Amino acid sequence: MKLKSMALPDETQQRRTVSDSQSERSEIIFPSDANGLGSLFGGRLMQFIDLVGAMAASRHARSNTVTAAMDHLDFIAPVHVGNLLILKSSVNRVFRTSMEVGVKAMVEDISTGEVRHVSSAYLTFVAVGPTGERISVPPITPETDDQKRRYEDAGRRRDLRSAERQRRREAEKGHATGWRP
Ligand SMILES: CC(C)(COP(=O)(O)OP(=O)(O)OC[C@H]1O[C@@H](n2cnc3c(N)ncnc32)[C@H](O)[C@@H]1OP(=O)(O)O)[C@@H](O)C(=O)NCCC(=O)NCCS
Repeated sequence: MKLKSMALPDETQQRRTVSDSQSERSEIIFPSDANGLGSLFGGRLMQFIDLVGAMAASRHARSNTVTAAMDHLDFIAPVHVGNLLILKSSVNRVFRTSMEVGVKAMVEDISTGEVRHVSSAYLTFVAVGPTGERISVPPITPETDDQKRRYEDAGRRRDLRSAERQRRREAEKGHATGWRP
């Protein structure tokens, strides 16, 4: 399938670096965040991931942003009540009105300082103006080798997402909306 050519950021806007908007958030996990087994509820972790992702996206765009999509999410290891959850986010690449943000969630054992990776996700945020209209996002400059690799990988993931959206649109043609058992 031929993909649409990749949308480009607006080069007339002020270019920013990845580190300008990288963000971090830490949480102590309370019993109210946990499931019946004493582990962090998956939906709560998704909320934390969305929030820290939005922090980086909005700081880069210097505007409000809405979450358009969250890619495949693995829960690699449980997070227990009392653990310190650390979430880091970084804008991987900017397109026209959207950005891909990578989030990594880790747990630090407070008694030993040992850090474990518990989850990662890629999210797409769209920049919106004061009345909810989509607005273009300033370009981004990856500086380190890791940032440059993530920038290239984000372009490949965008092509895959666009192809999947197109496939879904075609599959949905002719179907009424609503739940079909
Ligand atoms: C996200 C939203 C603004 C996209 O609107 P749309 O009419 O589909 O707009 P477009 O097709 O022009 O897409 C706008 C941009 O978003 C990207 N996009 C839209 N849906 C996407 C998806 N599912 N995955 C990845 N990117 C997506 C497009 O590629 C485009 O990027 P670009 O401008 O950088 O090229 C719209 O679907 C929306 O408002 N959704 C609700 C958002 C929300 O409330 N989020 C909170 C979660 S409840």
